[in-house]
Amino acid sequence: MNGEVVKACTVLAVQADGQEITTIEGLAPKGMLHPVQQAFWECHGLQCGFCTPGVILSTVALLNETPNPDDEQIRHALEGNICRCTGYHNIILSVQDASRRMRNGEQPSPIHAAS
Ligand code: FES
Repeated sequence: MNGEVVKACTVLAVQADGQEITTIEGLAPKGMLHPVQQAFWECHGLQCGFCTPGVILSTVALLNETPNPDDEQIRHALEGNICRCTGYHNIILSVQDASRRMRNGEQPSPIHAAS
C-alpha cells in the first residue's frame, strides 16, 4: 500500500480507501513477468505458490530500499512470510537472482510457456 508492504489481514478497508494498492497481478503488464517474478520462476523459488505473492511483493519492497541485500537482510525482509512447502533455500536464491536482475535494469519480459 503506497509502496509499503502490508498484511491485508491487518489493514481495514477504510485504511485502504483511496490508497495506491499494488498486488502481484499489478507488478507487470498483462502477459509479462516482473524481473522478480522471472527470478522466482527460473530459480524455482516456489512450490505450491501459496506464499509466493507475499514473498515476491516483500522482495520488490526490499530491493527498492536495498538493491544488493545480504542473506541476513533478505531473511529479515521475508520474516512473516511462512512457506508451508519450506522452500526457503530456493526463495533466498531467487531473491539474490532478482537483486542482480534489478541492478542490471532488467525490464518485464513476456511469459513463455514451459517446454
Ligand atoms: Fe508452498 Fe510457499 S511455495 S507455501
